[in-house]
Amino acid sequence: MIFAPVVLSFALASVKLVAAQNSTASNNTGLGVAAIEAHFTQAELVPSLLPTFDPSAVLTLSFTGVGDVSPGQALTQQQVQPVPSLSLTPANSTVELSGNYTIVMADAGPVGTDESQGQTRHWLVNGATVANGSAPLNVSTTGAVAITKYGGPAPAAGSGPHRYAILLYAQPESFKAPDGLNAPDTPISVFNLQDYVKNSGLGALVAGTYITVANGADNSSIPATSAVVSSTLSAPQPSGSGNSSTHASGSGSAGAAQPTGSSSAAGMTIVSLQNVVAAAFVGLFFL
Ligand SMILES: *[C@@H]1O[C@H](CO)[C@@H](O)[C@H](O)[C@H]1NC(C)=O
Ligand SMILES: *[C@@H]1O[C@H](CO)[C@@H](O)[C@H](O)[C@H]1NC(C)=O
Ligand SMILES: *[C@@H]1O[C@H](CO)[C@@H](O)[C@H](O)[C@H]1NC(C)=O
Ligand SMILES: *[C@@H]1O[C@H](CO)[C@@H](O)[C@H](O)[C@H]1NC(C)=O
Ligand SMILES: *[C@@H]1O[C@H](CO)[C@@H](O)[C@H](O)[C@H]1NC(C)=O
Ligand SMILES: *[C@@H]1O[C@H](CO)[C@@H](O)[C@H](O)[C@H]1NC(C)=O
Repeated sequence: MIFAPVVLSFALASVKLVAAQNSTASNNTGLGVAAIEAHFTQAELVPSLLPTFDPSAVLTLSFTGVGDVSPGQALTQQQVQPVPSLSLTPANSTVELSGNYTIVMADAGPVGTDESQGQTRHWLVNGATVANGSAPLNVSTTGAVAITKYGGPAPAAGSGPHRYAILLYAQPESFKAPDGLNAPDTPISVFNLQDYVKNSGLGALVAGTYITVANGADNSSIPATSAVVSSTLSAPQPSGSGNSSTHASGSGSAGAAQPTGSSSAAGMTIVSLQNVVAAAFVGLFFL
């Protein structure tokens, strides 16, 4: 506990940083977009599942009985059985959300999974729409085609925490559902997300988030998912600003896995700062 005061001061410093920032910005959606980008890199969904991730909106995923979940939040199989609801908050007022969208939920497996082997498809909806009005904008599946109806995660026992990515792609008029995935009620199976996106002519990846679900103790040799504590994530600086910022507001994300120190060179600064802030919150908790 000797280091508690030290980490506490880090925590307070980050809170101040955020307070200062929030007072000058109308809201922190831009920061939310940067944060989810950092989460995807931290969890190695980028570049293994997605070559890049540059969303234009924040996707909020909500399960009945759980409520809104934070990126990377660890949930039980039971918690993720109901069909989740999705809503979007555009990054800024220039982002327009109209037309059709495709919802995908894919099991990217534990960190280290070879994504070229494909992903189990737990949900695939073509023709979803986004509500008009003020954010958060609900994503509607009324009138949409559920190619694969939502099927809650059920990872193999002992296979470790699987990362389930929930993604919303723009679906242009030129979209064409590929053979094998063009009829409603196609059962859950393994597909290749990137091939699907390419072959069907899907547009931009507008928004995404992920959760982790494990079945029993992890007896695999694969390192645990390094889900980050979203409330302590340091986001890349907004364009034009040289300062990095730390998002330390909001609720503590219950159940998020401990961050690990491992990351790519690009993610290094984020990870180390984040670990410090995460440690700070642990310190706070035990004081
Ligand atoms: C609005 O957000 C989009 C998507 O993140 C970004 O490409 C664009 O530069 C932003 N525009 C402004 C004016 O900030
Ligand atoms: C945040 O501000 C942007 C740009 O003004 C806006 O598009 C977005 O809807 C706002 N989000 C919230 C939650 O108010
Ligand atoms: C939103 O408004 C646009 C244009 O006003 C309309 O075409 C679209 O159908 C509306 N979307 C929904 C989900 O109501
Ligand atoms: C959006 O969806 C939520 C949950 O599904 C619902 O409670 C809320 O009323 C919806 N909002 C609008 C504006 O329809
Ligand atoms: C992990 O445990 C499960 C049962 O919980 C078992 O089926 C599996 O073979 C084990 N895997 C390894 C790598 O030991
Ligand atoms: C959206 O999808 C519906 C069918 O699901 C189609 O009739 C409509 O033309 C599509 N709209 C756009 C803008 O692609």
